[in-house]
Amino acid sequence: MFARFWLLSRVALAAATAGTLVVAPAWADDAVKIGLILPMTGGQASTGKQIDNAIKLYMKQHGDTVAGKKIEIILKDDGALPDKTKTAAQELIVNDKVSFIAGFGVTPAALAAAPLATQAKIPEVVMAAGTSIITEKSPYIVRTSFTLPQSSTIIGDWAVKNGIKKVASLTSDYAPGNDALASFKEHFTAGGGQIVEEVKVPLANPDFAPFLQRMKDAKPDAMFVFVPAGQGGNFMKQYAERGLDKAGIKVIGPGDVTDDDLLNDMGDAVLGTVTAHIYSAAHPSEMNKEFVAAYKKDFGNRPGFMAVNGYDGIHLIYEALKKTGGKTDGDGLIEAMKGMKWESPRGPISIDPETRDIVQNVYVRKVEKKDGELYNVEFETFEAVKDPGKAKK
Ligand code: PHB
Repeated sequence: MFARFWLLSRVALAAATAGTLVVAPAWADDAVKIGLILPMTGGQASTGKQIDNAIKLYMKQHGDTVAGKKIEIILKDDGALPDKTKTAAQELIVNDKVSFIAGFGVTPAALAAAPLATQAKIPEVVMAAGTSIITEKSPYIVRTSFTLPQSSTIIGDWAVKNGIKKVASLTSDYAPGNDALASFKEHFTAGGGQIVEEVKVPLANPDFAPFLQRMKDAKPDAMFVFVPAGQGGNFMKQYAERGLDKAGIKVIGPGDVTDDDLLNDMGDAVLGTVTAHIYSAAHPSEMNKEFVAAYKKDFGNRPGFMAVNGYDGIHLIYEALKKTGGKTDGDGLIEAMKGMKWESPRGPISIDPETRDIVQNVYVRKVEKKDGELYNVEFETFEAVKDPGKAKK
């Protein structure tokens, strides 16, 4: 701060003496600004917190200078409201002159920013939202999170193979919930499974109780559930209160519902839940053990899948800048990101050069108690899964 003030004063003084105008501060070229737009308040705040934490951890571990440029993060809270996302993105692009926009806790936020990324020709790094279509909305979008079809198709096949015949579904009533349900249904019914009840719950402040009774009455073998990160704890509480666990109705789904961030407080009703997903805090690699320990040390709790999405998102930005030698031309950065491959705490991942979407392992996991704590224990791996939502087109 001091150094910058001193520099500015010197430039201003020199300019004033020479009778000219000060146009840009002398340090501007040495910094790369990243506009991080996240829900830090409201129902999706746990997503924002996890991503922000993980980026802080990454920068602590890897330094805040890349290819000679200082990395500056400018964080804006959009509360997961797309109008606010748009305003934040505009301010970041026009006023702050950021070279990247990143974050996006929900699909409507990622979509709201897409035309701005296209206009400004800067990368939009999607670190949370999971609807398949997102990466098709701008050639400047790159994703380090996941798509719902990546995991929901796999749990659909798993259900068929494991003797589940009747399923009642409960999904959040917006784009990723619809993606999850459509891809699960396609695989489950193709294998002979039947959907006996379909319920959609609102994204904001959902009360699951009235729907859970309907689920119980439909007497399914299992419930297929998608709720976004942050809502699984409340869902599991109401599921147990209504006695669905005692009625033998197991939960299956993509792993958002058993987010590691909340899992340990869900109680024993969650035991036996089988999900397909991209990350477990119990993933048995050395890299993940170190990541979980470092995250816990700095923030006091376990990282969930949103934290890993953020950790990988900032890694992608760092590596792209290394490749361009610190140049921030948007087209060059996107080219640098295409085809990038690396080892993440979740396992090996890459960016599909054609779709700019993430390619990653999907793990089938079961909630078990280990050393007195609840974990998603991985027992089957599907390697290098591309987004099936796009593969079909
Ligand atoms: C989304 O809005 O795309 C979204 C948010 C949270 C999730 C999954 C998808 O856990």
